Amino acid sequence: MRRETVPIPAPDLPASPKLSKSKPDVSGVENLIRAMLKKHRTPFMLIRGSVLERQFQRFRKCLPEVMPYYAIKANPHPKIIKTFIKLGAGFDVASASEMKQVLALGASRDKIIFANTVKSAEDIITARRRQVPMMTFDNEPELYKISEHYPGAQVLLRIKVGNEGSVVNLSLKFGADPEDAHLILRKARSLGLVPTGLSFHVGSQSKNVENYLQALEISAHIFDQAKEHDVPLKIMDIGGGFPIQHFDNEIGVNFERMAFQIRKQIRQLFDKKVQFIAEPGRFLVGPAGILVTQVTGRAFRNTLRRGQTFLSALAGPTCDSFDTLSLDVEIPELYVGDVVYVKNIGAYSSASAVANFNGFPPAKIVPV
Ligand SMILES: Cc1ncc(COP(=O)(O)O)c(C=O)c1O
Repeated sequence: MRRETVPIPAPDLPASPKLSKSKPDVSGVENLIRAMLKKHRTPFMLIRGSVLERQFQRFRKCLPEVMPYYAIKANPHPKIIKTFIKLGAGFDVASASEMKQVLALGASRDKIIFANTVKSAEDIITARRRQVPMMTFDNEPELYKISEHYPGAQVLLRIKVGNEGSVVNLSLKFGADPEDAHLILRKARSLGLVPTGLSFHVGSQSKNVENYLQALEISAHIFDQAKEHDVPLKIMDIGGGFPIQHFDNEIGVNFERMAFQIRKQIRQLFDKKVQFIAEPGRFLVGPAGILVTQVTGRAFRNTLRRGQTFLSALAGPTCDSFDTLSLDVEIPELYVGDVVYVKNIGAYSSASAVANFNGFPPAKIVPV
C-alpha cells in the first residue's frame, strides 16, 4: 500500500527542506522524531497515545450510538490495548490467544466479541472457560461446534455484504447469504444457543459509504424477519472498514460525512432498543503510527527527475519484494544514512510483519 513518506536529510537532521515546508503541521512531528532518534535505533515505529485518543473520541462523537470494539489484529501492542481499555472501548478478538491478551490487560469479558466466524473447538472452550459469551458465525457446521463446546453462547450471524471499492475485500471469504439468515438463526436457537444479533464487514479501508448503507438496509430487513419468526435480535455489529487518510493530499476520505450518513440510516431503519457495536481497527490505530527508518542503500534505475525530486521506490531490507513502502513516491535525492519517516502506518504493519524474516528484526514499537 502507498503511504505518505517524508525524508529528513542526514546527518544531523536540520529542518527538512521543501517537502516538509509545504506541509503545515509536521514540525511538531519532526521535533518528536529528532528527540526519539537520540534514544532509539532505527527502524522504530512511534505510536502516539494522543492520536489514539483523538481517533477514539472522533468515532464516539460522530457515531454516539455505536460502541467501538477495537479490532486488535490491526495492532495488538499492549500499550494500545491499555489505552483503549481506559477510554472505555470493547475489543474484537480473532483467537483465544488475542482473547487471553486483552483479558490479561484488564478488558472486561462483557465487552469482548470473538469475531472469527470459524473457530477451533479449543478456542471455543477457552471462550467458555473465560466466560466470553459473544461470538460470530456464518455457517451451520460452526453452530454445531459452538453448541457442543459452549452451550448458551450468544451468537451473531455474520452476513455477506457488498465490499465494492474497499482496499481489502472480506466478502470473498466471510458471510452467510442474507436470504438464509432467519433459518440459520432459528437453527441456532434450536441448538440451545442465544441468537443475539447480526454482523457484517464492508471490507477494510472502505471509502464507499453505500456499502454501509446497503448492509444496514439488508440487516434491518433481517431484524424484522427474525422478530416475525419470534427470534428477536438485540445487537447490530457494523464491523470495521472505516477509512483513514494515508497521504496528506489524498482525496475521498471523509469519515465525518460517512458517519453522518450511517447514523441517519441507523435512526431511520432500526428500533431504538437495538444496541450497535463496531469493530474498527485501521481507523483507531492507523493515524497514530509513524515508522522512522534510515537509508541503507540506493540505486538509480530508469531515473525520472522532476525539478528537485525523483520518482522513487522505497523498499525494506529483506529479499522479498513485498517488503516495499512505496513504488512511486516523489522525494528529493536520498543518501545513505538519511532518515525517512512514514506517517499513518500504525495498522496492519508491525502486526503483520514476520519477526526475524531474513534475519531482520522488526521495527521496535515506541509508544509516546
Ligand atoms: C472481523 C473483522 N473485524 C474487524 C476488522 C477490522 O477492520 P478495519 O481495520 O478495516 O477497521 C477486520 C479486519 O480484517 C475483521 O476481519
